[in-house]
Amino acid sequence: TVPNKAVVTLQPNWSEIYRGETITLRCEIKDGGDTDWEYEWRTTNSEKPLNQNELSIRSVSASHSGVYRCKGRKKSEKSSTDWSDPFKLTVSDKPRPVLNVSPSWLSAGASVTLNCSVEDQSAGWRFYWYKAAPIQLDDNYSYELLPGSSGGTEQDSYIVHGQTHTAGYVCRAGRGDPVYYTYHSQPKFVWTGDFHSSVSLTVSPDKAQHFISDSMSLKCKGNSGEWRVMRLATDSHLSNCSSWGTMIGSTCSLETVRSSYAVYWCESESGEFSNAVNITIQYTHIILQSPAHPVTEGDSVSLNCYLRREVIESSVFFYHNDKLIQNDTRLELDISAVSKSDEGFYKCQYSRKESAPSWMSVQAVSRPKSSSVPVLLIVGLVCGIVLVIPLLVLFCYRASNGENFYFCN
Ligand SMILES: *[C@@H]1O[C@H](CO)[C@@H](O)[C@H](O)[C@H]1NC(C)=O
Ligand SMILES: *[C@@H]1O[C@H](CO)[C@@H](O)[C@H](O)[C@H]1NC(C)=O
Ligand SMILES: *[C@@H]1O[C@H](CO)[C@@H](O)[C@H](O)[C@H]1NC(C)=O
Ligand SMILES: *[C@@H]1O[C@H](CO)[C@@H](O)[C@H](O)[C@H]1NC(C)=O
Ligand SMILES: *[C@@H]1O[C@H](CO)[C@@H](O)[C@H](O)[C@H]1NC(C)=O
Repeated sequence: TVPNKAVVTLQPNWSEIYRGETITLRCEIKDGGDTDWEYEWRTTNSEKPLNQNELSIRSVSASHSGVYRCKGRKKSEKSSTDWSDPFKLTVSDKPRPVLNVSPSWLSAGASVTLNCSVEDQSAGWRFYWYKAAPIQLDDNYSYELLPGSSGGTEQDSYIVHGQTHTAGYVCRAGRGDPVYYTYHSQPKFVWTGDFHSSVSLTVSPDKAQHFISDSMSLKCKGNSGEWRVMRLATDSHLSNCSSWGTMIGSTCSLETVRSSYAVYWCESESGEFSNAVNITIQYTHIILQSPAHPVTEGDSVSLNCYLRREVIESSVFFYHNDKLIQNDTRLELDISAVSKSDEGFYKCQYSRKESAPSWMSVQAVSRPKSSSVPVLLIVGLVCGIVLVIPLLVLFCYRASNGENFYFCN
């Protein structure tokens, strides 16, 4: 043997390798100088590498996983190096990153932060960001790159500014040359309860909580012909109306046979998203009937505590953000003119039974914008001129000598 040491190296030297990536295993002889070396490989897997310095694999698969060793032999002599230390190559399944979107519910003026995470954070990933547009096929989405991310971003987060209506997002990661892409993440959503876009969802009856076996429906409105009503349950399962109701035309009738808490919204064939609602369906003796849709500032609202069976004998308690606000025998909490400060969680309680909390959202009334002031000024001026000129012309006087002669100013 010769004293030179053989080493197996991996290029790129990432700690995790995924199915489909392009890699090169190389046999390096330490201080090999300009000697002509021949190479020999040994692996634990079935495919025996050629006796070459490099082993390039265009698209690795699980079958390439295994332990690799190599050694070098001097061409001219019979001497060779020892076998290198074993190099373990593990080829993992193609990763699917997880996207996080925060906040989940849009608030006026706030930006939306997307965060994409691949299990193996360290290794040379760039991140690609997409907006999801509904397509009918398989309940799926098509993906449109967000601005500035066509070459991928180094950051694992991305900020969306000025989002005002419900939207879906997707990310994926990529590395290497040619770029190796992970799967797309599952779509994640940011919702608004306000009616912003040309597409809307209305709940009937307009209540955020329903008893099991109550009948209720969700109706999509807008210019599209085809709709799907989507639901995201607390277990993160995304599905359309056909999984938990009956879709007739643009209306989904819910089968309220199981308890659930979920967010619902409509998606149109033309790629639009509607407002969203939170709906609780439950098997209890008491529910709070609060509006499922945002109420407008100044409106009068009544929240009902609804009991399945009981006759009222004792006090009914109403809470706003856990603060007791009404305590008498009325089953109704009336707010004559709601303001932004009435927004929040409400629940009611009766004879030690408590309803689930429901969120009541209050939408500000839109005030005329200041840009209408110059318009009013111009309109005023034009009207003034048009009215005043004829008045001036009509000031006519009879000649002072009493003849039938007039002059006008
Ligand atoms: C990969 O190689 C670079 C230098 O080429 C080195 O800084 C880095 O630590 C190596 N990474 C691993 C996981 O070996
Ligand atoms: C994104 O999420 C990862 C893991 O959850 C976290 O380590 C990272 O700090 C987050 N990035 C941002 C910008 O929030
Ligand atoms: C609803 O989901 C089912 C499978 O769960 C799918 O076959 C169907 O195409 C979807 N409908 C729409 C309108 O996307
Ligand atoms: C949706 O489409 C993407 C790519 O366009 C695909 O990877 C994914 O498997 C599809 N999902 C379903 C449920 O068909
Ligand atoms: C749904 O509930 C969340 C809190 O869980 C709340 O922030 C959001 O505004 C609610 N949406 C509507 C439309 O009420």
